[in-house]
Amino acid sequence: MTETHLFDTYARMPVAFERGEGVWLFDTEGRRYLDALSGIAVCSLGHAHPRLTDALCDQAHTLWHTANVAHLPLQEQLAEQLCDISGLDRVFLANSGLEAVECAIKIARRYAHEKHIEQPAILVASESFHGRSLASLSASGSPAIQAGFGPLVGDFVRVPFGDVAAAKQAFESHPNLVAALIEPIQGEGGVRVAPSGYLQSLRDLCDQHHALLMLDEIQCGMARTGKWFAFQHEPELKPDVLTLAKALGNGMPIGACLATESVARLMPPGSHGTTFGGNPLACRVGLEVLAVMHEDQICQGAEQMGKRLLDGLRIKLSDHPHVVEVRGRGLMVGIEFDCDVTALKQAALDAGLIINVTRSTIIRLLPPLIIEASEVDQIVETLHRLIEAHFAVSQSA
Ligand SMILES: Cc1ncc(COP(=O)(O)O)c(C=O)c1O
Repeated sequence: MTETHLFDTYARMPVAFERGEGVWLFDTEGRRYLDALSGIAVCSLGHAHPRLTDALCDQAHTLWHTANVAHLPLQEQLAEQLCDISGLDRVFLANSGLEAVECAIKIARRYAHEKHIEQPAILVASESFHGRSLASLSASGSPAIQAGFGPLVGDFVRVPFGDVAAAKQAFESHPNLVAALIEPIQGEGGVRVAPSGYLQSLRDLCDQHHALLMLDEIQCGMARTGKWFAFQHEPELKPDVLTLAKALGNGMPIGACLATESVARLMPPGSHGTTFGGNPLACRVGLEVLAVMHEDQICQGAEQMGKRLLDGLRIKLSDHPHVVEVRGRGLMVGIEFDCDVTALKQAALDAGLIINVTRSTIIRLLPPLIIEASEVDQIVETLHRLIEAHFAVSQSA
């Protein structure tokens, strides 16, 4: 596309999608693509899921919006169900991931000020991604997304992801740390899975130092890793705050910040708000997403298909001289190379497969959780073929 009236903020692929159906996307020429990205972990139930479409249409005929000036039963129902599956007690409904994170950061500030800490700080990880508002990009560990937007919002203390000793030292040397904000699996950062026991160690450190454990599951939550939430892979673990978005609406914009009862009490009437957050259209779709995920046992599917994908890729690629690691959990999978593989995105597109390359060296796969075995095998076969061809060409060049 040569002429546009849109901001040029996205490095877009040279394709225009018109329609989606299950795990498939169709471009304006009618060509079909296997979607191994799900709109970046959003369309977990696939494209144009009939039950979600029916729920949305029915709600569109009933009620769109009242703002948060009155009670909305759909919000109450959605919040109750989110609390049921997470073990938390209260929900603030927003429109996106960064808004959920913004709410979490504001909670940490209120928590600090109740404790009379005037200059509070939040522990965050290297390579983290929490969104692109000023506060959430300041929390993120990517210099590229911060560049040109200073002065940043303070105060974030950054430690290497997965390093318990570094977190311990940070708590000891920064008595003003009031919270830790961490992704259990870093998505943008390259599909880095927290080492086993890491989140529990952070929980213990937070308890010891009277800080809040705030987990960002905007990308890895909502069944993607084979459990409702990635933190549930660690037995008994419970965060104080949990941020969600993406797959909660399967494409309807919605975000959520969940908290325990005592933490939610820090946010009384007037302390936070949004015009659209929790509007009936989004809540109705969110409720239907949860219903389908329960009824179709989507967690189990993600676990089984994720294992098939990881095993398949490991068998084909682990010995490849340029593959550093094939890693992931459930249907959140990364293939790290020792060199730039950005070109593979275009090669995959040409082959009818949608993938993502993050940090220029890591292929990120986030297929819909409804994917079937034959489609998983197709991803493995196609990627294997493309990777072989890519390196054969670059070696002969
Ligand atoms: C872990 C994480 N947090 C926050 C965000 C920001 O969400 P949004 O793009 O909906 O603002 C993202 C988006 O990719 C994310 O992956």
